[in-house]
Amino acid sequence: MTTYKLAVIPGPGIGAEVVPEAVRLLESTDLTFDCRYMEIGYEVFKKTGTPVPDEVLTEIRKTQACLFGATTTPVGVPGYKSAIITLRRALGLYANVRPAKSYPIQKSMKDVDLVIVRENTEGLYSGMEFELPDSAYTLRVITRKATELITRFAFDLAMKRRKKVTVVTKANVLRKSDGLFLEVSRKVAEDYPDVEVEEAFVDVTAMRLVLKPHIFDVIVTSNLFGDILSDEAAGLVGGLGLAPSANIGADYALFEPVHGSAPRLAGRGIANPMAAILASKMMLDYLGENRWAERVEKAVVSVLEEGKVLTPDLGGSSSTKQVTDAIIDAL
Ligand code: NAI
Ligand code: MG
Repeated sequence: MTTYKLAVIPGPGIGAEVVPEAVRLLESTDLTFDCRYMEIGYEVFKKTGTPVPDEVLTEIRKTQACLFGATTTPVGVPGYKSAIITLRRALGLYANVRPAKSYPIQKSMKDVDLVIVRENTEGLYSGMEFELPDSAYTLRVITRKATELITRFAFDLAMKRRKKVTVVTKANVLRKSDGLFLEVSRKVAEDYPDVEVEEAFVDVTAMRLVLKPHIFDVIVTSNLFGDILSDEAAGLVGGLGLAPSANIGADYALFEPVHGSAPRLAGRGIANPMAAILASKMMLDYLGENRWAERVEKAVVSVLEEGKVLTPDLGGSSSTKQVTDAIIDAL
């Protein structure tokens, strides 16, 4: 039987509380995992001068996938760049995949089943910034290569789903950068005659997500727009406590809850572990363990349906550990 080698990076805050729970759930399956715990981020930066040291990257590359919790990115520390953004770029994880699906809870809109595919390496998160006296600049970078990769990824995904792609830009204003994004996406679309393509502006899309989320299947967009729209979509289906994501590259993938370290919630043992557990479900799919992936999702859904063991963000009063226990029992 295969042993899956995993890099496990819980990170600070609630990352350190939910990731061990996801690992506990993985270990309750009949699969075997070799978990290698690692650290990146601000504490590492203070010791080594870089948030993601080369040695850690080397260790990560020896594994098949990474389960990641969260980072805390302090604002206004000179020379510091977000560890997770640095890591995504270093590992070439070009596609950030964020599903939003209706779950059986009160706060969830019905009939939502969409995936936001967000370009993960450039856009307004290019990291290219500079200052002049009394002004500051961030470069929005859109390249033909990265756009082709991300749009192709979205169309391939749509072929396995309801065969619809919404290409989201602001090409009417960002004429150069989103003009290119649109041009490349149209070219890629030619290879997928069975997929229905819709082009939409980001502002209208934000509104339609709230009014008619069920019309969307796969949404593909650049980095910042995808970041915002995916948090919005998460809000529609129950909040950050339920939102998982995958960061996928040509030969490696990292799975994480959409949420961050939530410092104010940390240390109380009541963070919702479901987002991290659903992220590990996405990882099981990636590793080819689709049957276990399905069982994990069903177990989460049954705990939600029963509604007895929930963390406070979903209106319950149970702890992180109790929720994981209930999911493991349902498995
Ligand atoms: P956040 O996602 O950490 O938390 C926002 C709010 O959502 C929290 O106050 C909490 O009420 C709720 N929440 C999030 N996850 C939850 C869970 N599992 N269970 C119950 N409630 C939950 O975002 P925030 O507060 O804006 O950022 C905190 C830190 O996290 C910052 O330093 C930020 O840079 C970092 N961050 C890191 C991310 C990553 O590692 N991928 C993503 C987002 C933020
Ligand atoms: Mg975000």
